Amino acid sequence: MSLVKRISLPKISDPRGNLTFIEGQRHIPFEIRRVYYLYDVPAESERGGHAHRNLTQLLIAVSGSFDVLLDDGKSRETVTLNKPYEGLLIDCFVWREMKNFSSGSVCMVLASRVYEADDYIRDYQDFMRTVRKE
Ligand code: TYD
Repeated sequence: MSLVKRISLPKISDPRGNLTFIEGQRHIPFEIRRVYYLYDVPAESERGGHAHRNLTQLLIAVSGSFDVLLDDGKSRETVTLNKPYEGLLIDCFVWREMKNFSSGSVCMVLASRVYEADDYIRDYQDFMRTVRKE
């Protein structure tokens, strides 16, 4: 199965400006417990560089674009996010790195759990050892 799980979000097109909405358990397969966003990211900057043990997230380029590398320990894929009405679902035990942020881009993240530092796997070798054991 592909690592890349894109979710098309509702888009209400309107000459006054478009609108997209997201309801937990309806448009995405989890209840939303947390929202955070990355902004003012320098073009040369890289974010992410970790996996999660229990967290599912949806990433959306609400403005501009950026690339996301996904790695489940067996394969790697890079996708570009650049549509405010399209989300990228990232399951637990998937390593992710975000880069090539365009000027003014905003990466909004909907998360299934509150912030838990212990949920992170921040070392790639630890990640590989963990997924091989699964
Ligand atoms: P981090 O998850 O490493 O950012 P990214 O994956 O985008 O590179 O988080 C950076 C810092 O922000 C780190 O000190 C933890 C803190 N943080 C919170 O306190 N709450 C949160 O919900 C998130 C996502 C991060």
